[in-house]
Amino acid sequence: MKSLSARFLKGLVKDDPILEDGTPQIAFIGRSNVGKSSLINSLTGQKGLARTSSFPGRTQEINVFVVLVRGSYPAPGAAEHDPQARSGAPAAEERQYWLDLPGYGYSRHSLETKRRLHRLIDWYLYKSPAWQKQVVLIIDAEVGPTENDFEMLRALEATKKPILIVANKVDKIRKSKAAARLREIRTRIGIHKVIPYSSETGIGRPELIAAILG
Ligand code: GTP
Ligand code: MG
Repeated sequence: MKSLSARFLKGLVKDDPILEDGTPQIAFIGRSNVGKSSLINSLTGQKGLARTSSFPGRTQEINVFVVLVRGSYPAPGAAEHDPQARSGAPAAEERQYWLDLPGYGYSRHSLETKRRLHRLIDWYLYKSPAWQKQVVLIIDAEVGPTENDFEMLRALEATKKPILIVANKVDKIRKSKAAARLREIRTRIGIHKVIPYSSETGIGRPELIAAILG
């Protein structure tokens, strides 16, 4: 099993050299209040890492975390160039950036704030020099994918981003209804992998970690 440790690096509101330093980026996006920051905390097992709030619109910058992954093995082909890999020993550490993005679609923000946040999300995903190894689109399992979620999904598809869908807050669905609800979400989402998740209970954590770390 791979182990993770993470620390906050910086909050971005515009371009930054770290976006082009070659470190693989995992972007967490989704509607405001869907649980992006909580999910990062629960995946890393570090509760206070990303700031969360019961009030939507908490995250207003792109918060970048450095995540160190231990216990991973070299990628196929790496052995040719890496003496440590040739020896058969596990690679010491892999470094990733996890990016906690502001949420979209919070109606109570001022028009100006809404535009600013949308511009920031749009710039990071589609205009900046950043390259995402994985874009994790988080939806609310209880609510299901909304118009805003589909708008985001279509844009990600159109730009050929590597998409992974997380159906968060599954703890809020009654057990007897969960399977049918997830079937319905999967049908509506289409070809993408959908991982049921709960930051409250830890359901889906091993699957999501495996999907993100590969
Ligand atoms: P913004 O930064 O505003 O875009 O929100 P966010 O998507 O980062 O959401 P955040 O992690 O701050 O969580 C929003 C609220 O949802 C908080 O009250 C969390 O406690 C709650 N929450 C997050 N994940 C879960 C979950 O899996 N289950 C339940 N029941 N509540 C959750
Ligand atoms: Mg947040």
